[in-house]
Amino acid sequence: MKENIKTLVDALVAERNLPDEGLRALIEAESEDAAYLRARGGEVCESVYGKAVYLRGLVEFTNYCKNDCFYCGLRRSNRECERYRLTEEEVLDCAIRGYELGFRTVVLQGGEDGGFSDESVVSVVRKIKESCPDTAVTLSIGERDADKYQAFFDAGADRYLLREETASPEHYSKLHPPELSLERRLDCLYELKRIGFQVGCGFMVGAPYQTTGDIIADLRFMQKFKPHMLGIGPFIPHKSTPFRDFPAGSVEMTLNLLAISRIMLPEVLLPATTALGTASDRGREDGLLAGANVIMPNLSPAPVRSKYLLYDGKLCTGDEAAESVRLMERRIESAGRYVDWGRGDFAGMGENK
Ligand code: 5AD
Repeated sequence: MKENIKTLVDALVAERNLPDEGLRALIEAESEDAAYLRARGGEVCESVYGKAVYLRGLVEFTNYCKNDCFYCGLRRSNRECERYRLTEEEVLDCAIRGYELGFRTVVLQGGEDGGFSDESVVSVVRKIKESCPDTAVTLSIGERDADKYQAFFDAGADRYLLREETASPEHYSKLHPPELSLERRLDCLYELKRIGFQVGCGFMVGAPYQTTGDIIADLRFMQKFKPHMLGIGPFIPHKSTPFRDFPAGSVEMTLNLLAISRIMLPEVLLPATTALGTASDRGREDGLLAGANVIMPNLSPAPVRSKYLLYDGKLCTGDEAAESVRLMERRIESAGRYVDWGRGDFAGMGENK
């Protein structure tokens, strides 16, 4: 191992911070250097959360989207995407099925779909909280006006996921059409936090045109914003998007970033993402070993699974929910961890709001 990598990782653990050059070396670390970084990421995770892994039941309730992000298979220009939208009852049924399987967090994720109204979101959140009172409800439905976020919160939603995608404005404009801006994205994130949600941000690793400097910008944003949750996964091309011919992001770099983020934000809730599991068979187990502590199995009804294709080859488009939970428990145990069936709230609540 390069002596300076050990020094850098140890300094990151002690200070929760490093100058840009140090971060660059860790982001790009390889072989035994990377192994040391990830092992320390795993240790920091264990010191806060023990060996627990939290499960979140993911309900992908609509794949309609008014946005046209260049990387995403659900973009409105993708005519090959077969669109669907669950009814409120179907969403509630998925949540209840998840509850019966033991889940205490349900994540409602969807495209920015004007056809599933904000009132319907409010109503379905209320119903889930009535039927499953000790369940946390997480929303992941994109950019909305502040009054809508407030209405979701008042209905009982606890958490909100909204990746910034990239914290560099120049890079943002290479991934999105001109009507979308980083400024608006960040305004939404700060608004969500102000309202009182536990908030998740995040980015893709190896997105087209991304430089290591852009990734450092994401880490700096993360330090400043102090999210409660953080979604980091490799970019994976989708065949019906303008980015179809770009290579997938590096699994190795993604694992380094999970470890770095864990060390910088020890209490953050950090999933080993489905994209990581799609890019590598061992991806999610390796993610847990590097410091991740959340897995998000799919609870969407089987017939719509194969239609929520953010990228090619997405995992779990076939399995039944119950089946995938059993498989997931086995995978988690094979990484020396266990499933904690609690809500899995942010460990630093109170100090980091
Ligand atoms: N590869 C990897 N992740 C993607 N996402 C969207 N498209 C892709 C892709 N092609 C991620 C985005 C979004 C999340 C729901 O999925 O970061 O925020």
